[in-house]
Amino acid sequence: MSNKWEEILISSTPKAWVNKALKSLDILLIDHAHCEKKAATTAISLIHKYPHHNLADLLSPLAREELLHFEQVLDLIKKQGFKYRNLKSGKYAQTLYESASNKEPEKFQDILIICALIEARSCERFHALIPYLPSSLRNFYTKLYRAEARHCDLYLDLFTKIFKIDWTERLKELSQVESAFINMKDDLFRFHSGY
Ligand SMILES: [Fe+2]
Ligand SMILES: [Fe+2]
Repeated sequence: MSNKWEEILISSTPKAWVNKALKSLDILLIDHAHCEKKAATTAISLIHKYPHHNLADLLSPLAREELLHFEQVLDLIKKQGFKYRNLKSGKYAQTLYESASNKEPEKFQDILIICALIEARSCERFHALIPYLPSSLRNFYTKLYRAEARHCDLYLDLFTKIFKIDWTERLKELSQVESAFINMKDDLFRFHSGY
């Protein structure tokens, strides 16, 4: 298994975030469910926005997989005795999307890189949490971690397949934005928040 996610992130999750997560397992799981739902929505909206790139072959199965994750997290929320509800969104994804170009094809290129970065950060956060989680959650997050690592590769491979150019330089810029956000103090604890 390749580990592109480790290569594309320039910083690790601060320990303070892990401590907050362990004290707020309900918010962690509920926001994680929202992340899975949003990952499916993003994949579907890309298929819709860029029909000429035939994204459905790869992104429709990905969207189905994310919805399956969503259902699995919902189940876990119930089993832990928590209640699923809507939460105010964090600013992580918004901050990244605001850094994307607003002209094509750079916009779509940036979105593919941003999707890869979000998947990569999910992997990294699962990795950071797994040693401290109760066993019921640990097994699930280990399985999920592998799926999200595959999604990170898929978005970068899609970039290469469509544009036939190197993503490294642009990735460096966007991963700076990503890392700056993760290393900021944040009053709102979320799966992808600062600490
Ligand atoms: Fe997922
Ligand atoms: Fe994913």
